[in-house]
Amino acid sequence: WVAPTLSLVLSYLLGSIPFGVILTRLGGAGDLRTIGSGNIGATNVLRTGRKGLAAATLLLDMAKGAVAVLLVAHLFPGNALLAAAGAFIGHCYPVWLKFKGGKGVATLMGIVVALHWPLGLVYAVVWLGLLAGLRISSVAGMAAALSAPFAAALFGRFDLVLLLLALALIVLWKHRENVDRLFSGTEPRIGRSKRPPG
Ligand code: G3P
Repeated sequence: WVAPTLSLVLSYLLGSIPFGVILTRLGGAGDLRTIGSGNIGATNVLRTGRKGLAAATLLLDMAKGAVAVLLVAHLFPGNALLAAAGAFIGHCYPVWLKFKGGKGVATLMGIVVALHWPLGLVYAVVWLGLLAGLRISSVAGMAAALSAPFAAALFGRFDLVLLLLALALIVLWKHRENVDRLFSGTEPRIGRSKRPPG
């Protein structure tokens, strides 16, 4: 039980690093949790107007998911799925923020890339495609997360299907306020927060 426990603890700790909160604070843009949606992800960092910080948050949130899976797979072979779950839960429910963490989309991207890179390709295409087309981050993120278990089945990675389905359901649950806003037509679009003059 030592290797599974260490795998979970290590991956949870990595996943729980709230890069969005840290970078926004270091960049002098305030407490991210009091800005926009209050979420700690890259989309909300973008709402501070700091594109560089948002891009860095996106990359680091993805990287911590991938690093957790790859590191654990290297240190404790056979525990990659536990690491995937640990990193994801760490991001969504970090002890440092009283368990009020992010919505999981970027971290899950890093996780799927590390588990089976073709899945990451599908995830990225769904995510970026919908983001470019609709410019609604939540819809793109939820669709990408949901695509992962289906893509895993298509690629014959049935060992990943249940875990990815469970993580996608958590992504949906974490987006429940976004879903309410989508139904009431008040969900903001990326890059259109400022009205054009006149
Ligand atoms: O990944 C988070 C994104 O899907 C939604 O973020 O800030 O619009 O709630 P936000």
